[in-house]
Amino acid sequence: MNLEDLFSLKGRVALVTGGSRGIGRMIVEGFLAAGIERVYITARKEDELNATADELGEKVIGIQGDISTLEGCDQLVAAICDKEDRLDILVNNAGAAWGADYTEFPEAGWDKVMDLNVKTPFFLTQKLHTLLTAAASADRPAKVINITSVDGQRVNPWETYSYQASKAALIHLTRRMAARLVKDHIYVSSIAPGAFPSNMNRVARDMEDESAKGIPSKRVGDAFDMGGSAVYLASRAGDYTIGETLTVDGGIVNAHLPTHFADPAGGR
Ligand SMILES: NC(=O)c1ccc[n+]([C@@H]2O[C@H](COP(=O)([O-])OP(=O)(O)OC[C@H]3O[C@@H](n4cnc5c(N)ncnc54)[C@H](OP(=O)(O)O)[C@@H]3O)[C@@H](O)[C@H]2O)c1
Repeated sequence: MNLEDLFSLKGRVALVTGGSRGIGRMIVEGFLAAGIERVYITARKEDELNATADELGEKVIGIQGDISTLEGCDQLVAAICDKEDRLDILVNNAGAAWGADYTEFPEAGWDKVMDLNVKTPFFLTQKLHTLLTAAASADRPAKVINITSVDGQRVNPWETYSYQASKAALIHLTRRMAARLVKDHIYVSSIAPGAFPSNMNRVARDMEDESAKGIPSKRVGDAFDMGGSAVYLASRAGDYTIGETLTVDGGIVNAHLPTHFADPAGGR
């Protein structure tokens, strides 16, 4: 077994939605380190998108657009189809959050989050089915990686009702889509990030030390954690991991002792 071949993405073409910054950009950096042939990134803000594509080099190509609507997804698919006849890896990463007091939580904050976080990954993957199928074989399956969240795995105290529901929905949708697409040699899985510094997670970005206190490993996540996990799932190394959600969170979900159990002698 050769370690380089195991994790290599040589000769593969990927699309990472929301690749202009944050977690999407970390994934692109991982794919580049694994030798990927080309990566398309998308975002609404063209300046930031182009700046990221320029910074990361000629293998990274920006396609500007809003993918929160089916029309936006169609435009993105048309732009990819113009340039490629196959797609090896799709990362459904673009996402939105909304926080508001329960009694005032607005419909706009429900629809915006559910549309981008649940509806878009389903329909974008459906619309890219022909291109993914063209890349997929039993020896080298195509991959779809949905970026979910630990907030879909356990209740968090923030009043982000639609966000938490959307991520739980996407974790289950990952399994259901995996069950359908496995026969086409398209393997669907998900990564559930914990706290990664980004525009969305400003607490992890601007109060890193404070955030780290609540994480069992005592640090927030970085590009190595996210890039490494995405490369694993996208490459040969991840070919037997299907429908699974890989939790990448420094232990928040699976290695966190509830405070009332933290002291083994507690309560006695
Ligand atoms: N950071 C964390 O701690 C964390 C934890 C768990 C899960 N996640 C998940 O990770 C994913 C990425 O989040 P992030 O923290 O990296 O957030 P971020 O920094 O806000 O990045 C979001 C990306 O998505 C793009 N985007 C947003 N709305 C879009 C739309 N309608 N159409 C096209 N592109 C759009 C953004 O670019 P434009 O604004 O220019 O469109 C940007 O590239 C999300 O699904 C999020 O739920 C993040």
